Amino acid sequence: MSISEQTLAESRELAGRYPKARSGIVPMLHLMQAEVGMVNSDVIEACAEILDISTAEVVAVATFYTMYRMRTEGGEHHIGVCVNTGCGLLGGDALYEALAVKLGVGHNETTPDGKFTLERIECQAACTHAPVLTVDWEFFDHSTIAEAMDVIDRLTAGEEVLPTRGPAVRGWRAAERTVAGLDDGLADEGGGVDELMLAGLKVAKAAESGVDGTVKK
Ligand code: FES
Repeated sequence: MSISEQTLAESRELAGRYPKARSGIVPMLHLMQAEVGMVNSDVIEACAEILDISTAEVVAVATFYTMYRMRTEGGEHHIGVCVNTGCGLLGGDALYEALAVKLGVGHNETTPDGKFTLERIECQAACTHAPVLTVDWEFFDHSTIAEAMDVIDRLTAGEEVLPTRGPAVRGWRAAERTVAGLDDGLADEGGGVDELMLAGLKVAKAAESGVDGTVKK
């Protein structure tokens, strides 16, 4: 089995966070693919053993969610372009096409040098900042083709790349450990919320207090 003792120990810790250990499968799959680079037979068997479930149950979860890479290794950096309606209409479709040409790969494909994996992604709940580009799940809000090209060039050159918010881009595998729920100590990096993010909340609070003239139910 190719999973390290450290990852197995961290996986058991994740499973122990839940009243029912099997609930830990979602973060556990992220953690294991952070080490292995994909969800392969070793990952499936390790999850099944720790959680005392069948390998078929692990595969059912791993194939349901698009963030798991079933038997295809992810590149050093994950490049995501939101192409849902809001982002797509506001430039996401053009952004994706430009990146596909620049990288020479299509959806869910990795460049031959293993540097970048490109993916059309679903809504990132950041529609107020459309179109949204993500690099290793860090956000580049109101992204442009010029900015996306620059990000790829700088990552290729090994330069530090800062997103609109959040910490500097660290690589897909490091991000997967964070997604798994392990503390990376970076929660306060890169600024916080802005006015656009709070706009909906303000409208909801105004409606609740009745200051906008709506009737409180
Ligand atoms: S449509 Fe792209 S973040 Fe919502």
